[in-house]
Amino acid sequence: MECFLIEGDKPLYGSVRVGRSKNAVLPLMAASILFDEVILEEVPKLRDVISFKKLLEFMGAEVECQDECVIKVEELEPFAPYEIVRTMRASFLVLGPLLARYGRAKVSLPGGCVIGARPVDIHLKAFEQMGARINIESGYVIADAPKLKGAEIYLDFPSVGATENILLAASFLEDETVIRNAALEPEVADLANFLKKAGVEIEGIGTSTLRVKGPIREQKMVWKSIPDRIEAATLMMAIAITGGEGEVNGVCKEHMENVVNKLLQIGVELDFKEEIVYVRGKLPFKPSNIITAPYPGFPTDLQAQMMVMLTQADGVSTVQETIFENRFMHVPELMRMGADLRISGNTVTIKGPSKLRGAPVMVSDLRAGAALVIAGLAARGKTIVRRIYHIDRGYERLDRKLKQLGASVKRVSERELGLEE
Ligand code: UD1
Repeated sequence: MECFLIEGDKPLYGSVRVGRSKNAVLPLMAASILFDEVILEEVPKLRDVISFKKLLEFMGAEVECQDECVIKVEELEPFAPYEIVRTMRASFLVLGPLLARYGRAKVSLPGGCVIGARPVDIHLKAFEQMGARINIESGYVIADAPKLKGAEIYLDFPSVGATENILLAASFLEDETVIRNAALEPEVADLANFLKKAGVEIEGIGTSTLRVKGPIREQKMVWKSIPDRIEAATLMMAIAITGGEGEVNGVCKEHMENVVNKLLQIGVELDFKEEIVYVRGKLPFKPSNIITAPYPGFPTDLQAQMMVMLTQADGVSTVQETIFENRFMHVPELMRMGADLRISGNTVTIKGPSKLRGAPVMVSDLRAGAALVIAGLAARGKTIVRRIYHIDRGYERLDRKLKQLGASVKRVSERELGLEE
C-alpha cells in the first residue's frame, strides 16, 4: 500500500489548478444510462470514476476514460452488484435511470460507511410514489416498474443523491414530476442543466422545487462539469495554513460563498479575479464557529479540513456536524498530532493555536484524509499518512498538486518505510 510522507512547516507558494467536480461527474456517469452516447470532458482521474466505469462496463456499457470519458450504451443488464456498489455509495444513482429505461433493476444497498449509516429510504419512497414496486432481498433493492410515472414528491430531507436519482428517472418520463425540498447543491444544478440541454423540460434549477418533464430529445451529449468546490477549498486551506501565498485556478466563487466567508472571517486573505483566487495565510487565525448544513450552508465535505484550520486560531472554536452522525474519525488522529480537541455529541471544541507535530496517522475516509494532509503540511517534522487510497477516491494526485506549490509530499510504498502493510 502507498502512503504520503510529508515534511511540514513550510509555507506553500505558487499556482495550482482545480479539476472538475467529482460529485458532478459521478451523477453524469449514471445519467449516461439514459443516452446512446455521453462524452464527459476533462474528467478527473479518480478512483471513484474508475469504480463507476467498472459498474457501467459490468452492466454492458462501453466506457473509455482518458482526459475525456466516452460512454456508449446500447442494451444494459440492470444489475449493480454489491462488490462494486459497496466501494462507492454514488453507484446507487444507477437505480433511477435503470428503472426508468428498463422498467426493472436490481441494485445492491450501499450499506453503512465509516461516516454514518447513510440509508436510502428517501430514494426508495420516491420511486414507490412513481409507481415502482420495491422489495429488499439479501441486501439488494429489487425494483419493478413496468410503467414508471411522474409524481409530486416531497423529500423529508434535501438529500443530494435522492434529488439526483429522482431527477434522472423523471427525465425519461413524458409526464411531469415535481421534486419539493430538493437539494440545492451546485452539482445537482449541473446535472439538471445537462438534462435540460438534452431536451428535458426542467424548471426551478437551483431552487428547492424542481419541475421535470421528459423525454430526452438528444441521444448524444457532450458536457464539461463544474469545478470541484471541495478540492478548491482544500487547496486554499493548504496554502493558508502554512502561512503561504498562492493562486488556485479554475474556481467558481459563486459555489463557495459560505466557505469563502468563513475563511475571510478567520483572517485568510482572498482575492478573486474571474476563475482565479489569490490566497494569503496570516497566522494565527481568528476563532470561529462552524455548523455544517445542506447547501448553501457550510459543506460537511469541508468540515474536517476546516477543523484543522481552527487548530491554528487564537482562541476557542467549535465545529458542529449536522449531516452525518459519525464524521469525526479524524479527531483522534489530529489529537495525536497535538491538536487540543474535545468531542461532545455532534460538536468538537477546538482550543488554539496548537503547535502541531508530525506523526504517523491513518485515514478513515476521503475528507478526513485531506484534513490529515493539511495538518501534516502545518506540522513540524514528519507525518506519514496511511491508507491514502481513500484520498485517491476524490482528489486527483493531491500529492502532485501540493508539490507544485512547493510542499514536501512524497508518495511512497509502506514497505519502503519499513511499515507493515
Ligand atoms: C452527497 C455527496 C457527499 C456529501 C453529501 C452531503 C456525492 C457523490 N456525494 O452524498 O460527498 O458529503 O452529499 O453533502 O454527491 N439520507 C437518508 N436517507 C436517504 C438519503 C440520505 O437518511 O435516503 C441522509 C444521509 O444518511 C445523510 C444525509 O441524509 O445523513 C445526507 O445525505 P445525502 O445528501 O443523500 O448525501 P449523498 O448524496 O450520499
